[in-house]
Amino acid sequence: MAIAVVGSIHADFYVKTKRFPQPDETVIGSDFAIFPGGKGANQAVGCARLGVETYMIGAIGNDYIGSLLVENLARNGVRVDYVYKASCNSGVAFIILNEETGENMIIVSPGADNALTPEYVENSLRQLSNKVKIVLTQLETPLETVYRSIEVAKKMNMITILNPAPARELDNSIYKFIDVIVPNRVELQQLTGVEVNSIESVFKAGEKLLDHGVKAVVATLGSKGAAITTPWLRAIVKAFPVQVVDTTGAGDAFMAGLAVALLQNMDIVEAVKFANATAALKITRMGAQSMPTRSEVENLISKYDGRLLVE
Ligand code: RIB
Ligand code: NA
Repeated sequence: MAIAVVGSIHADFYVKTKRFPQPDETVIGSDFAIFPGGKGANQAVGCARLGVETYMIGAIGNDYIGSLLVENLARNGVRVDYVYKASCNSGVAFIILNEETGENMIIVSPGADNALTPEYVENSLRQLSNKVKIVLTQLETPLETVYRSIEVAKKMNMITILNPAPARELDNSIYKFIDVIVPNRVELQQLTGVEVNSIESVFKAGEKLLDHGVKAVVATLGSKGAAITTPWLRAIVKAFPVQVVDTTGAGDAFMAGLAVALLQNMDIVEAVKFANATAALKITRMGAQSMPTRSEVENLISKYDGRLLVE
């Protein structure tokens, strides 16, 4: 069975600096590089590298960047038959990476992401209906496109996973179609209005989303790991300690790990452990799509197993 990812496709323009500039200030950076990115594409590459048949449903522009981005997806094993070519620029992201802290600042120019229509996604999902079991989506395409993908997927009995990133307000009526929602702390706060500043408040906000009809909430908490809230479970799964090189795409790696693990019928705690390991390995490398293979993830888990886990 396959995974379909509905979402953005970008070229990431990276520059490293020792500190972020202030408004009106210029700082000298180093090491300019262009890497493939976009939350949708990152998650698709993550799933494919973990060994699962993966379809990208997204849009590129009619520029040379777009062609490079599709070639890159295909080279990573992602099926690109449903990547739409729009008459505009490809989406790009400008990323400033702070080499002292590993933090980043990102500005996205969505370009072709905004040309991904609900109709195009619905048609694609219908054509894939007997292959795809899980649909993954994020918030870098128009909201009506996100809503349509989730509703259509649910009506076709697929498992729906939403990464509500970057933070945007959502219509409460969408939650009943979502099986698993995966916000970070800021997104969880924005979605629920709960001030999220403690583990207790993470669970409280999680329950609010359950009340709206989501089946499970997995909140990512950076170096603290991830918190699971379902009607029958509250658990923290600790993060794997690693050397931070670049956190860009860490959330996307987590999503890929989670989706692949759920596709392979792991229970939610094991799946979150697998997702944490996928994210940990990604942040030891530059570029949003430097995703680990399945054996790298399994090695990391077996190195730590037993000492880690649930609180
Ligand atoms: O999640 C990381 C991604 O966010 C980057 O690759 C960038 O393109 C933005 O979409
Ligand atoms: Na990310």
